[in-house]
This record gives sequence, C-alpha cells and structure tokens, in this order.
Amino acid sequence: MKTSEVLSPTTTPESVYPQSAALQARAHQLIPGGCHTYAKGDDQYPVLAPAFLARGQGCHVWDVDGNEFIEYGMGLRSVTLGHAYPSVVEAAYRQMLLGNNYTRPAPIEIDCAEALLRAIEAAEMVKFAKNGSDVTTAAVKLARAYTGRDIVAICAEHPFFSVDDWFIGSTPMAAGIPEAIRQLTVKFHYNSPQSLTELFRTYPSRIACVMLEAETSLRPEPGFLEEVQRLCAENGALFVLDETLTGFRWDLGGAQKVYGLRPDLSTFGKGLGNGFAIAALAGKREFMERGGLRHSQERVFLLSTTHGAENHALAAAMATLRTYREEPVIETLHQQGDRLRNGANQAIHHHGLEGHVEILGRSCNLVYATRGEQRAPSQAFRALFLQELIRRGVIAPSLVVSYSHSDQDIDQTIDAIAGALGVYRKALDDGIAHHLVGRPVKPVFRPFN
Ligand SMILES: Cc1ncc(COP(=O)(O)O)c(C=O)c1O
Repeated sequence: MKTSEVLSPTTTPESVYPQSAALQARAHQLIPGGCHTYAKGDDQYPVLAPAFLARGQGCHVWDVDGNEFIEYGMGLRSVTLGHAYPSVVEAAYRQMLLGNNYTRPAPIEIDCAEALLRAIEAAEMVKFAKNGSDVTTAAVKLARAYTGRDIVAICAEHPFFSVDDWFIGSTPMAAGIPEAIRQLTVKFHYNSPQSLTELFRTYPSRIACVMLEAETSLRPEPGFLEEVQRLCAENGALFVLDETLTGFRWDLGGAQKVYGLRPDLSTFGKGLGNGFAIAALAGKREFMERGGLRHSQERVFLLSTTHGAENHALAAAMATLRTYREEPVIETLHQQGDRLRNGANQAIHHHGLEGHVEILGRSCNLVYATRGEQRAPSQAFRALFLQELIRRGVIAPSLVVSYSHSDQDIDQTIDAIAGALGVYRKALDDGIAHHLVGRPVKPVFRPFN
C-alpha cells in the first residue's frame, strides 16, 4: 500500500491487498485462527495489513501482492541476523545433504552443545528441543522432580513463558485447562522481592521453581534479580531464568552475563538459530543430570522429541553462534536500536505525543506503548499506528532490530514513524474513526510483539 493512496473508512483489504485477502479467506476455512502461530494472527494486526508474506531478505520482506516492507521483530524475534542469512542457510543446507535425522545421535549434537555451553557460563549441561515452550516446560518438570514440590512461581508482569497448560492456565485464554492445574501456578511481581517472599510464606515447601525473564521493558531495580536468586536458594526452589528473548541479544552470554546471575536452569530459543527451530534447556549438572543415565535417583523424562536434535537446525545454530562471536552482531543490535529510539523519540516530541506513544525496552529489543485520548493503553491506537507504518513501508509489531537493519533502513523507518505519528496526532484531535480503516478484531491477550 502506498502512502499516497487515499483511504476512507470503507477502504477494504480486497482493494489494497487482493492476493492477501484471497488467501485470508482460504486460510480461515482451513486453519483455526488462519495461521499456526498466535502472534501472527489477524487479531494482532490492523485490517489493512498484508496478511501473507512470501519472501524475506535481510530485514526486508515482500508480501504476496508484491509490496516490499522493512520488517521488525522478524520471525517473532527469532531472526536476529536477517532473513535468508547466507552463512546460516549454507550451513543448514550442507548438513541436510548428509541426512537430517538418524536412529542414533549425530556428533553435531555434541559440537552444538559445546558451542552453547561456551557462551553460557553458569550452565554445565544442555538439552536441545524445537520451541521455547518445550524447554520452559522441561525446566518446570525437572524442578518439580528434583524438589518433590508441585507449585511454580512466575513473574506476573512477564507476558509469556509457554504454550503448555501450566502457563496458559494462568492467562485470560485458559479454556480447556483444568482448575487443578491452574491452581499450581502462582504469581509474584517484578521488582517486588516482598511479593516473592510472601509466596514462599503462603506455600511453605511447595514452590519447586521461580521463573522470570531478567528484563523486559521493565528494568530491574538494583539488587532485585540477586534477591530473587537468593530467595530461591534460601527456600529450596530452583531459580529458572527464561532467556528466550534476552539470550544472544543482551549479550552472547545472555542477560545472566549482563546481571552477573547464575541461574540453576536457563532456557533459550529465539536468537539461537536465526529462525531455524531450535531451543535449549541449559543448567547446572546437579539438576540436569536427573534427566540422564548416570545417577541412582528416579530418572526424569527430560525432553525427548523426534525432531529435537534435527541436524540442520543444530548446524544453523552453530553458524549463528559463530557469527555472534566473530562479528559485531550484539553491538550492532544495540547501536541500531539507539539510532531508532532517538529518531522515534524526536518524532514523538515533534508531534507533542509524549504520554501517548512511548518507546520502551533495551535498545536491542525495543517495543512501544500506544495510548488514547485519556492516556490509557489503546489497542485501537496501536492498530492505527501499525496501519500508518504499513502504509509507509514498515511492518513493526515491535521495534526489535536485526543485524541486517542498515542506517538507511533505520532512517527510512524514522521517517515512516514521523509520518504515522502525524496521523496519530490528528486522530487524537478529531477522532480515530476518521483514520482507522475497519474494525480490527481485539486479541484476547497480546503475549508478545
Ligand atoms: C519469554 C518467552 N518464553 C518462552 C516463549 C515460548 O517460545 P516458543 O514460542 O518458541 O514456544 C516465548 C515466546 O514468545 C517467550 O517470549
């Protein structure tokens, strides 16, 4: 869609994105929700958004109607280097030519384990899987088995840990999850060690593990993370750090390196394989060994999936980790995020939108908040902002950069943000209905951007 195209409240997706709209109709006929990943669904986007992307290169994508966009938060933040990144694709391809799954393990399973453990200092053993959810769920199981306890304490402000019942049962979309399971997940508050202490007091000797991310758009107050670690040790619960988003983005050694933490278990996913399906549960030997053969305790059925060690995904992960080591990837993510944040903040200031639009988070992992007339969080204004960015050639459910975002991409994005905010300003002044096309479906919850 071009900025010059005149929109009216009656503009239809069919007139702007004919191919996308046709696929959308078919998709909803065949696939519940129209796609296989919640956060890619139509309820997360404005009505006037390209519904299907056909191709990606670096940080650019092309939709099925042939429109080109600069993309942010690519692959739900899993594509850190760039789409179709040559050295990663080449490594995966070369491995596929050797076959990608045998009846016994392949040596690459050890090589990849060594490469990961070299980066994550507190971990001594690792087990691979396909999704972040596989490994957070495995962490919970291991913690329950090791401690003999049943309750899991998670951070209330952290939006997503797993697709599995122990977590989804705690969200507003808990249909199908028995109450008995829901009772076993309890919540504490970020930056409130008191709230965690309170949980330990309410459920004495019942909390198996405490799971949180080190940092989201909320920064930890000095001493908070250390205090969580200390409270876990004091109360006999495992300290589990979910590094699905922070791993290989904050630092090669994860957020645990930045904050000097030594979690009992930590989980990785996005960022590990540049979009290939690979996740990892890493941790101290004392706990991880319970999933192994060399002990006399009851064995934990720890992560066994047919495709868990698919060889080409491991090859992709090794090539990705090598790129992180040999090139200034993490430095670039932070630098380009700084450039984007500064430009976006200037545009916000220029349009007098402080308090309505806010850029949040670490530079390597920027998100934004949208607020309406009364400065309350507004899904409608989020849809409008997205719509106007898309009109200007940018798809940005978040502002999470990749190693492929050049200065030119960032500057073009800043121009798009400035243009979109101009419309945002007008919508605040004369009513959003004059500017937002269609009525987007409201998501039940928005787990991630
Ligand atoms: C912090 C965090 N943990 C775990 C997950 C689950 O990962 P996956 O979608 O790969 O199962 C996500 C997904 O967005 C996440 O953001």
